[in-house]
Amino acid sequence: MRPMIPGETIFREGDIGDCAYLIESGEVQIFIEKGETEVPLRVLGPGEVFGEMALIDDTPRSASCRALSVGQLIVVTKEQLVDRVHKADPVVRLLVQVLLERLRSHNNHLKGKPNFGPDVPHISHAAVENKEALERIGLEDRISTALDNDEFIPYYQPIYDLTSGTIIGCEALMRWISKTDGVISPYVFMDVMEESWLILRAGRRMLEKALADLPVFAENFGENFFVGVNVSGRQFVEPGFVDHIENCRKLSNVKAPQIKLELTERIMTEGETAVQTMQECRNFGYKLAIDDFGTGFSSLQYLAQMPLTDLKIDRSFVLKMIEDDKSLSVIRSLIHMAELLGLKLIAEGVETKEQLAMLKGLGVSMGQGFLFSKPLPYEDFLMLAQPNKKRKSA
Ligand code: C2E
Ligand code: CMP
Ligand code: CA
Ligand code: CA
Repeated sequence: MRPMIPGETIFREGDIGDCAYLIESGEVQIFIEKGETEVPLRVLGPGEVFGEMALIDDTPRSASCRALSVGQLIVVTKEQLVDRVHKADPVVRLLVQVLLERLRSHNNHLKGKPNFGPDVPHISHAAVENKEALERIGLEDRISTALDNDEFIPYYQPIYDLTSGTIIGCEALMRWISKTDGVISPYVFMDVMEESWLILRAGRRMLEKALADLPVFAENFGENFFVGVNVSGRQFVEPGFVDHIENCRKLSNVKAPQIKLELTERIMTEGETAVQTMQECRNFGYKLAIDDFGTGFSSLQYLAQMPLTDLKIDRSFVLKMIEDDKSLSVIRSLIHMAELLGLKLIAEGVETKEQLAMLKGLGVSMGQGFLFSKPLPYEDFLMLAQPNKKRKSA
């Protein structure tokens, strides 16, 4: 806490700033100097903050500040403020910078300083420096247009019963089929989609398409064939999410256990609503798989709270299980844990025969990976049904 007395100068325009202030009590005046005269900008009172601009973009104080009454200021350190700004979404950071530039240019205008001319750049500094944010906004716009044009479709990767070697289900994986750039992987657009609300539109579309394709898959691969659909946190807790699946399910006339929702533990950051929605899904009979478990800041406490049916062994562990004892130990403990919790296991990213043999030896019941097949478009996926059919009629 920093006390102030009336008339005291807190700082002067042009000073180097090392902290901002939150007014606990009393009033201050912000002003700039135009030649010999003072131009008052604002009087600030309790609950208001000042002195933040110099910290955010490392520039000298844009105005002076004087105490108007007795009062108390809470000092906000550079670390407290800057760390938060840096951690913010790049688009939010860009907006903050643009607003600061506008305020500075407004102050310059009041001082009679030019905002135009050979020495003053026309293009915003913030915009030039923050390329990442601009690219992100550009990508959001392109995704939104692509959604209007129905350019997102599911590719399907088969999931095998490792004992019988038959296809028993698949995972639907989103692909952007762009007229100009061809097939685009989720690694390019998923982060942007999930951080914006676009994932809601895209996610609904995926569920609709995957469930519409499911009856034909069941006809070709067997009546209990299931489809795994990835669901992000925002989408999962959106009001009406479960009703939407139920409507799609009724339209396709498939059974609820043929629908497997793949969730990551990040879903738990959505709080109580996530657990309630999971329970609702289970009451309807859908299956719930935990995806990417063990890759983030996994919490066993979360695992115990989630009413799951399946656990997916992440590709990163399967990839290293042969050479790296630690990855193998993680897989062993996941298997043990799944047994105790009554969960079915699906191994992801099976690429070699050695991995397959080892996973089978460990008792993992289901698997998917490039050893069997990459994710395929609908028509190509259906072609995989031929050996399945032969095996059934043999
Ligand atoms: P994920 O759910 O963990 O999906 C597994 C990823 O591993 C997929 O990448 C799949 O193509 C890839 N994969 C499968 N087998 C192998 C293998 O043997 N080797 C290698 N190297 N990779 C393999 P993809 O399709 O690029 O998807 C990436 C991620 O994007 C997914 O990871 C998932 O988190 C997300 N995603 C994909 N579709 C959707 C969707 O419809 N909704 C949401 N919310 N997320 C999705
Ligand atoms: P800073 O530039 O660190 O120091 C001066 C402070 O005055 C500035 O941060 C803002 O908190 C505040 N300030 C600057 N310009 C204005 C304005 N036009 N209106 C209100 N407050 C301002
Ligand atoms: Ca998945
Ligand atoms: Ca995964």
